[in-house]
Amino acid sequence: MATEKPRAVAFFGAQFERQIAAHDYQLNPFEERALPFLSGDVLDLGCGLGNLAFAAAARGAHVTAYDACENAVEDLADRAIASGLDIWVRAVDLKGWRPEETWDAVNCIGLLMFFAREDALAGLEAVRDAVRPGGVAVVNAMIEGTTLLAMFDPDAYYLFAPEEIAVPFAGWEVLDDCVEEFPAPDDKVKRFRTFIARRPA
Ligand SMILES: C[S@@+](CC[C@H](N)C(=O)[O-])C[C@H]1O[C@@H](n2cnc3c(N)ncnc32)[C@H](O)[C@@H]1O
Repeated sequence: MATEKPRAVAFFGAQFERQIAAHDYQLNPFEERALPFLSGDVLDLGCGLGNLAFAAAARGAHVTAYDACENAVEDLADRAIASGLDIWVRAVDLKGWRPEETWDAVNCIGLLMFFAREDALAGLEAVRDAVRPGGVAVVNAMIEGTTLLAMFDPDAYYLFAPEEIAVPFAGWEVLDDCVEEFPAPDDKVKRFRTFIARRPA
């Protein structure tokens, strides 16, 4: 029986197709903010086109990258092979994902809001649990106040309360923390919190 793709995966698949055709592999502002913190063994959850995974690997990181979007994953795998970079990339549906090992840095930008509340909150805990002592977590997600909802499945999305994102990381050293709002079509807005913290060694 065919399983229907999550709406976000179909939405981003179409966007990534255009970017691949245009060779548009620019880091977005959140990825720029995250890059200096990604070294050693790095996990990128919801890597999309993998621009950040690629940039981290180019700086010497050993990167594992997961996303459910097959065209993005295939394109990243091709680029990794062509450039000889250390990126291990797989198509994975990350809803309900739990770590079986740990990494020096775990990046999760723009993924968790595409899950229903319980899965989004469990996803935050999975990011936390995937980080080694002394390692770094990078989390970015849409928060309350976002009014652009077109990319969401109405039955499966969650806008975090701004303070909620830091809760599983209590006791960690906060390295960066900000809320940003961006205009979107039809007078809508997108509001994000980016939170970067180091687990005690
Ligand atoms: C906003 S994009 C972010 C991509 C990348 N992290 C970036 O910053 O450009 C959201 C990503 O989440 C992925 N995604 C959404 N739902 C997913 C799921 N259930 N499992 C795995 N990936 C998913 C999409 O395919 C897309 O690549």
